[in-house]
Amino acid sequence: MIEKNKIEEIKHQTDIVALISQYVQLKKVGKNYRALCPFHTEKDPSFYVIPDKGIYHCFGCKKGGNAITFLMEYEKLDFPSAVRRLAKDLGIEIDTSHGLKHREFYDVNDKAAQFFTLCLNREIGKRGRSYLAERSLDLTRCKDFRLGYAPASGGLVTYMRQKGIKQESLIKVGLVAQHSTGRSIREIFRDRIMFPIFNLSGRIIGFGGRSLDDNVQPKYLNSPETPIFKKGEGLYGLYQARDFARQKQEILLVEGYFDLLNLYQHGLNYVCAPLGTSLTEKQAILLSRFAKKVYVLFDGDLSGIKAALRAIGLLISAQIDVYIASLPDGSDPDTVIKDQGVDALRGIVESADDFFHFYRKHVNTDTVEQEVAVIKDLIEIVSNIHDEIRFDRYVKYAAHVFDIGADVILRHMKGKVQETPRTSLRSKKTPEEILMAMILNHKEYFPGAAEILDTDDFMDPALARLFQTLRKDESFDVSDLSDVDIIDEGLKERLMALIIMEPTVSYEEFKKAVVHYKSEVETRRIKEKIAAAHAKGDVQAVMQYNEQLNVLKKKVLQLKTENVTHDVGSTG
Ligand code: UTP
Ligand code: MN
Repeated sequence: MIEKNKIEEIKHQTDIVALISQYVQLKKVGKNYRALCPFHTEKDPSFYVIPDKGIYHCFGCKKGGNAITFLMEYEKLDFPSAVRRLAKDLGIEIDTSHGLKHREFYDVNDKAAQFFTLCLNREIGKRGRSYLAERSLDLTRCKDFRLGYAPASGGLVTYMRQKGIKQESLIKVGLVAQHSTGRSIREIFRDRIMFPIFNLSGRIIGFGGRSLDDNVQPKYLNSPETPIFKKGEGLYGLYQARDFARQKQEILLVEGYFDLLNLYQHGLNYVCAPLGTSLTEKQAILLSRFAKKVYVLFDGDLSGIKAALRAIGLLISAQIDVYIASLPDGSDPDTVIKDQGVDALRGIVESADDFFHFYRKHVNTDTVEQEVAVIKDLIEIVSNIHDEIRFDRYVKYAAHVFDIGADVILRHMKGKVQETPRTSLRSKKTPEEILMAMILNHKEYFPGAAEILDTDDFMDPALARLFQTLRKDESFDVSDLSDVDIIDEGLKERLMALIIMEPTVSYEEFKKAVVHYKSEVETRRIKEKIAAAHAKGDVQAVMQYNEQLNVLKKKVLQLKTENVTHDVGSTG
């Protein structure tokens, strides 16, 4: 659990414009920012970022919230991870006990990597060295990967004991297994080339191990999942490749360890690998943080082609431009370099297909029905492109490639793509909603409103509940609005529109609006009383209420002409 104060501090210190700009191209409109929504497909921007409030909101898909919810939504993080990410950017320490635990995991892995590297360089690692030489890996050029060798005879436990690392720690990071039956333990990696797997901070989170003997199964063994190692979240090699990729805005995506290292050592160093699993959505989003364009260089076999077809949709949805290289049947990037040289591989990359052509080439379109299916699949993929120009270009391109009208494609998409309902911006708002939005817009003025208004001054029970919450919870502000369940979505929506569209006002203007509203409420109440008195035939009461009504009317009139004094509104 992270302390509430810490969360507040992090939320308020984060510059939401800077944060969201890392993912979305924002355009300044007045004091706010606008963009095409990253959470749904649209052609007209309806995604707003409101820096003073630390919030964002999309009028199209209704997604909205604060810096934390943005990261959760965009990066698919859980709440604590999103908070931690922001804390890290701000240099705020949180949660030290948890951090320590992780640090211990990293420390154990790091020392284990030292052991494996030592072994590779000693007499005991001769087998490992000659295996790597046979696979033409130049260790001096792959230093950053800290390759190693786990001897057939083991030795990790002993080495680690000397370094003060206990067996339990080795079990926790998945380097040692305990037999369920007895007390005996075994080192998991034996007679394998060891590939440390790094996270983006350069810490070792797990290992992959290649057996030297092709008869030993499995060929590759990976660390089990641990609190620091989650499969399908990171990408092998991204830590080493990150600066090269950012600079080039391109990434080569390969399947395996040796593909990657072989490319890297030949200068194709903007490369990473999803490691055994097929590419996940998280990995696609991760890639989009480092490059605009991805070249998929999977194996030239059926499973490689299938994996590439699956990756296309995910990469496009992550707003990445995708190209897929077709490798010779039965080869992979590693063998292409080994057999034909790195220039041959460069040529293959250069002649990579865009995803349309790759799809057409590899998916059967012998019958009309098959072709229809392919077209529909591709249209589905294109409909996830946010960038208007790219979207438009791809629709036209699809029309050309499939010899089909662009209007037909657009019409087919219309059923799938969410149109931006701009109604929320126009739909009618009640005076009490307008007032509430003003209050939310000026949390610092709230005490002034609380002096005058009562909870039952709001007719809409949801607004009354919201007012109550504001009274009770000082830290509640507009950035929490999207999380509360005391008001319905429609109301949230109208309030958001008001909060975003309404200008900020001075304290005097604010107070005037509050007093004016209060007077209107009182007028309504007195009128109700008059009606009731009439019904009962109580003439005296009617006269008395009328008198009150006149006083109120004068007050309202006065309000319209002059500034507010602080004692008005205490009637009733
Ligand atoms: P491949 O089977 O294509 O291996 O798996 P490779 O890289 O060509 O292997 P070499 O060249 O024979 O050494 C591609 C990648 O999938 C993961 C590994 O990351 C591997 O590099 N993999 C494969 C596993 O994790 N476990 C396996 O048993 C097999
Ligand atoms: Mn392979």
